[in-house]
Amino acid sequence: MRKPMVAGNWKMNGASEFASLMSTQLNQHAASIGSVDVVVCPPTLYLAQVQNDAISYASAAQNVHFEEAGAYTGETSVAMLKDLGVEYVLVGHSERREMFADTDAVVANKVAAVIARSLVPILCIGESLEQRRNGEAFEVVKKQLLSALQAVTLKGGEVVVAYEPIWAIGTGETATPEQAQEIHAYIRSVLAAEISAQVAEKTRILYGGSVSAATAAELFSQQDIDGGLVGGASLKIADFKTICSAAADL
Ligand code: PGA
Repeated sequence: MRKPMVAGNWKMNGASEFASLMSTQLNQHAASIGSVDVVVCPPTLYLAQVQNDAISYASAAQNVHFEEAGAYTGETSVAMLKDLGVEYVLVGHSERREMFADTDAVVANKVAAVIARSLVPILCIGESLEQRRNGEAFEVVKKQLLSALQAVTLKGGEVVVAYEPIWAIGTGETATPEQAQEIHAYIRSVLAAEISAQVAEKTRILYGGSVSAATAAELFSQQDIDGGLVGGASLKIADFKTICSAAADL
């Protein structure tokens, strides 16, 4: 049995007042979301606050550098995140791949650095609209997945995968539960074939891309969808709680 997870990616949104409100609301909601790993991913500047206030959830960084330390102005190391008590790190989000030169090689280095310090990467993969239209979705997802995991040895549970079709991110156009399930099952089959049955069985695969309070329950009811990576709807506290409850009801 895989424990469901719902992660809220604020991106470059929110400030300390919003962080306080979110922490209080999630902590008050603890009893009804106890069966879910709820993860809050604020901007780096608010990670310490979110982490310090955490009772019913864990925190995640939206990015990290793979080097241990050094002359990398503006960057944060895995050791620094660990020092704060942060447990998860988003790696390979499509916005970082597109806008901040997170190539497959950089993503693989980040995954390895995060796992080396026993934090858990939430590895984001997913195809563009053009790739889907060209029938390349499976191939793209497999390549991103195996490339990102090439430098690590997995036994199961060290990494969370988030399938985020780029055409569904921030567009209001959610993949249908059937479309998402098809790719999730494929990702699990690739993990089984290329790594091991145990890793395939233990790896949580989240769906991301316009998950909302209205669509979460049906998406999460799919066999290979173990929760969600939520962007826009994680900025609406009531909606985010509804999405966490949908995962708790599985
Ligand atoms: P969205 O973002 O829910 O706003 O589509 C998801 C993500 O980018 O992780």
